[in-house]
Amino acid sequence: MDRPTFLMTDPACFDVSYRINPWMDPKGWTPAHAAAALAGSAALRAALLAAGAHVETIEAVKGLPDLVFPANAAVVLDGKVLLARFRYPERQGEEPILRSVFQRLKTRGLVREIVDLPEGLFHEGAGDAIWDADRRLFWCGHGPRSSRAAIPVIRKTFGHETVALELATEQFYHLDTCFCPLAGGMVLYYPAAFTPDSLAAIRARVPEAQRIEATAEEAAAFCVNAVNLGERIVMAKAPDSLRTKLQDRGYALTEVDLSPFILSGGASYCMTLRLDRASVPAAQLHAAE
Ligand code: ARG
Repeated sequence: MDRPTFLMTDPACFDVSYRINPWMDPKGWTPAHAAAALAGSAALRAALLAAGAHVETIEAVKGLPDLVFPANAAVVLDGKVLLARFRYPERQGEEPILRSVFQRLKTRGLVREIVDLPEGLFHEGAGDAIWDADRRLFWCGHGPRSSRAAIPVIRKTFGHETVALELATEQFYHLDTCFCPLAGGMVLYYPAAFTPDSLAAIRARVPEAQRIEATAEEAAAFCVNAVNLGERIVMAKAPDSLRTKLQDRGYALTEVDLSPFILSGGASYCMTLRLDRASVPAAQLHAAE
């Protein structure tokens, strides 16, 4: 994989038909939202392709609307896939589907190894374990969805440092809704989503000059839930305030209308899963085998 490679899901079966986070309101969902979701997902895919990425697609499955959020499928690094276990029964039906998706990707050489989480733990994949390429560590969210006890499993599976961050609110229930490391070492995050101890852990590792704090409005627009490729950041429609903040720091924004997905509590990062991340350059990995 010489290009950044993402997994996305065909949005044909996406809707908001249950409520497992405070953004979801099944009564507010209309056929117009379903049509807009098809357009939004296509626009996100186009933005990733335009940024030089390759996209692999998971087929839609009836009755599993949140399969459109493959960030929750697994934690993936160096070709290793740690499969997710979902907190809510509404999403647990995704687990066997995702296992077979990764088995197929393994057959094709796109991943190397599939690892199961020990029984009794919940972990919702890259939504709650975000690789920081500059610091070479995983930032790990826990609380509303993922078990704190899953974090040592991530450390052992991938052999890298993990920083546990407890999420303080149901609104920002996955770490990726409120925390986004950017190329060059900057971190875009929403401070009010974290407990005081977690906030201190972030600030101990990210010097002030590298912190970009999102406002409540920017976080509610799901702009922290962004995909970053070098200087490019692909995100939901941004308030002017955030656009300015990021452009002043040298980043280029591609904004996509993802409003139907925000009604489910997700946006661009949630709708993708990066498959090709390596903790060391590929040449070194192969030399070590
Ligand atoms: N409705 C989905 C859920 O509550 C949204 C998931 C968004 N994904 C994410 N990585 N934040 O599980």
